[in-house]
Amino acid sequence: MDSFINSIDFFKGNDPEQIVANYGTPLYVYSEEVIRSRMKAVAGVITKYDYTANYSIKANTNIEILKVALSEGINCDAMSVGELMILKKAGFPSDRIFFVPNNVCDEELEYAIDNDIVTSLDSLSQLEKYGQLASKKCKGYECAVRINPGVGAGHSDKVVTAGKKTKFGVAEADIDKIHEVLDRYGLKLVGINQHIGSQFLDPQPYLDAVRNLLRIARGFKGLKFIDFGGGYGIPYHKLDGEADYPMGDFKKRLEPILDEFVKDYGYAPLFKSEPGRFCVAEGGVILARVHAVKENYGHAYAGTDVGMHVLIRPAMYDSYHDVEIIRDGKVVPRENLSEITVTGPICESGDIIAKDRLLPQIKEGDLACVLDAGAYGYSMASTYNTRPRPAEVMICMDGSVKLIRRRETFEDLMRLF
Ligand code: LLP
Repeated sequence: MDSFINSIDFFKGNDPEQIVANYGTPLYVYSEEVIRSRMKAVAGVITKYDYTANYSIKANTNIEILKVALSEGINCDAMSVGELMILKKAGFPSDRIFFVPNNVCDEELEYAIDNDIVTSLDSLSQLEKYGQLASKKCKGYECAVRINPGVGAGHSDKVVTAGKKTKFGVAEADIDKIHEVLDRYGLKLVGINQHIGSQFLDPQPYLDAVRNLLRIARGFKGLKFIDFGGGYGIPYHKLDGEADYPMGDFKKRLEPILDEFVKDYGYAPLFKSEPGRFCVAEGGVILARVHAVKENYGHAYAGTDVGMHVLIRPAMYDSYHDVEIIRDGKVVPRENLSEITVTGPICESGDIIAKDRLLPQIKEGDLACVLDAGAYGYSMASTYNTRPRPAEVMICMDGSVKLIRRRETFEDLMRLF
């Protein structure tokens, strides 16, 4: 593919130069159309049985994106009280939120209990704490437990969230102890969940993990739901022809696994999954201004205003993001390519967005458009080097451009002192 931006008319006819003239750079730009289409796809993963897709909002917590999820009828999962609060602010009722925290204090668990939000406990120690708090409210309080099935998967060790060397979930060997704690506090276990990791394009590890969780689920009677977690990948190498996650094939292979379980278990509990990245990654790009072009000891660099403070994924996980160059509002064709590294303004040599890429000739004043930045982009951005965080705009279904988060100001940064 020569240009993802052109192939789907990402900006819906708007001139990117005009957008940044109005909102500045660096700028997160989202496509409502792409996000809605991905949310529709995850909502249809299981059609034969009761199913909900929970958008995992850590990927992108912009309130307007949460409202898109709300209107698409999908539910959400949250990791912190901050995420619970923003979901409520976006209009989500408690019964459309699943709280899956890790290592939290009493106040955070109490917030979920006070708001009647179903919570999954991630260790025996957190289950014990939850039991103490919930039993003050009533007997038979409902909860879920996150199981660590002993195997994980993902694009980097840092995002593998199950397996023998991760902090997450209760190990299978400790399942008897779960029952002891439940009995001690009169808790009612209504669900089990897992999340094995993030960003796989081959569905096999996920399908294996589903089969494995369902095997474990047979040991729990009366479950209302089973949640298989997120992790569906997106093609970060799309300009080189990388294929999409094979959603259709995945659905076909998933269904017989569920059929077999339902036959043995006697009924179908509600099935859930928790995709974050898949819903939003491809629906977001970053527009950056190229402020300097230089050659250092034979290596070419394009210095932009997008650094690791705006998008930390390349620095943190060696993640790959495609970059398109825009000049005078038009994507520069991928011709006369030469090797160049796209960097940011941060005072670290790891401040790299795209390393040693074959890109068309870049000039000062061009825009660099970083693709697939809708997930774990803004939500992991920081103010490192005392740089205010960027603004976010949405290209709406009707093609209008809407500011959905204003740019942070220096006054915002000073306010905490
Ligand atoms: N559920 C749980 C419990 C999770 O921990 C996660 C992600 C998800 C669902 C959603 O996973 P997804 O569908 O987005 O893969 N910052 C990293 C990704 C970290 C994912 C952490 N947990 C990145 O930029 O690649």
